Amino acid sequence: MRIDIISAVPSLLESPFNDSILKRAKEKKLVDIKIHNLRDYSNNKQKSIDDYAFGGGAGMVLGIEPFSKCIEDLKGKRDYDEIIFMTPDGENLQQSYANQLSLKKNIIILCGHYKGIDQRIRDYLITKEISIGDYVLSGGELPAAVLCDSIIRLIPGVLNNETSALTDSFQDDLLAPPVYTRPAKFKSWEVPEILISGDLKAIEKWREEKAMENTKKRRPNLTKNKKD
Ligand code: ADE
Repeated sequence: MRIDIISAVPSLLESPFNDSILKRAKEKKLVDIKIHNLRDYSNNKQKSIDDYAFGGGAGMVLGIEPFSKCIEDLKGKRDYDEIIFMTPDGENLQQSYANQLSLKKNIIILCGHYKGIDQRIRDYLITKEISIGDYVLSGGELPAAVLCDSIIRLIPGVLNNETSALTDSFQDDLLAPPVYTRPAKFKSWEVPEILISGDLKAIEKWREEKAMENTKKRRPNLTKNKKD
């Protein structure tokens, strides 16, 4: 899978892809992430990418030309399945959408600034608008990193134990059950006995029950379509 991210502040995207699971995914060549500096597509000597808003108003607006040029360059080289704009008024990111995206070949992600991006970019250049939650961040870079993480960990071969992505919270509209590790007793706090019983069937059943219990308690909206 190839992901192209277009950003006015590319340095914000350096660290998330250079550690842990995402770094390993890149090293294993399961994902190719290219970060493009919007300024490199500016059409003037000053490398400016924003301008005053037509009609007045506070704040600068990221213009359409650099985004359009960068997207055209990329589309000239390969076909893209989706061109996504990160924005707080987009569709809320759901696990099911991350699952769908993890099967795609090439995607572009645009990072903008809330209130600060020419509307024509949204009207004519993109295919999807995604929000990572009902709060406003300073730009789309951190949301883009969140979206990429949610996708990349699902690509087969990225996680050592492939089943661990399948048992993530939300994969089947259930939160994950609790997990424990050694020591079995810390102070007076003990691990549930069933987990050290060796009875795999009973452990599986306990995990299912705990997942349902957790979901009902914390996220009852997810269990609407489930029976006990
Ligand atoms: N840009 C700023 N805030 C955002 C959010 N919550 N989700 C996606 N993109 C954003």
